Amino acid sequence: MFNSKPTLLAKTLVILLSFMGLLLAEQAIAAAKDQITARLEPTGKVCVFGEDCAKGMKVPGAAPSAPKTPESVYNTYCQACHAKGVNNAPTFGDAKLWAPHIAKGKDVLYQSALNGFNNGAMPQRGTCADCSDDDIKATVDYLVSAAKK
Ligand code: HEC
Repeated sequence: MFNSKPTLLAKTLVILLSFMGLLLAEQAIAAAKDQITARLEPTGKVCVFGEDCAKGMKVPGAAPSAPKTPESVYNTYCQACHAKGVNNAPTFGDAKLWAPHIAKGKDVLYQSALNGFNNGAMPQRGTCADCSDDDIKATVDYLVSAAKK
């Protein structure tokens, strides 16, 4: 069925196909070049404070992380034991359980919370190592007032 003299149509087809092949090859090369330039870009772009890309950037040592509130300290540390009464920890908001503690006076409670109490059953600072004394005292106040409601 193939005769030795290719028809004009066959010739045109061959030429067209080769052009298409060239086009495809060119596209592939262009894509590869894009990838290479992308890979050659510096991994860490320098972003200067004040530029748009630096929005939300934190200055080291400047603003401290969110200030502690009695609630946040309680929720992060104290509730581990005081929410359910682990090791007989007085349960949050339970007036009856807190009454004998409250009867000791706030200063004693502050000291128990700061230094630990009952051989560490109530741990020093309630495990909040980076709480200031005032943070701990405020959290004790928060526990006490919740138990008085
Ligand atoms: C590992 C468990 C645990 C954690 C965490 C904990 N407590 Fe306690 N806490 C206890 C236990 C147990 C008691 C009861 C000790 C007892 O009466 O013998 C207690 C008692 C107390 C008392 C009463 C102390 C007294 O002298 O009667 C205060 C106040 C208190 N906790 C505050 C806190 C605060 C504030 C935090 C968080 C910053 C905290 N606790 C975290 C276990 C814990």
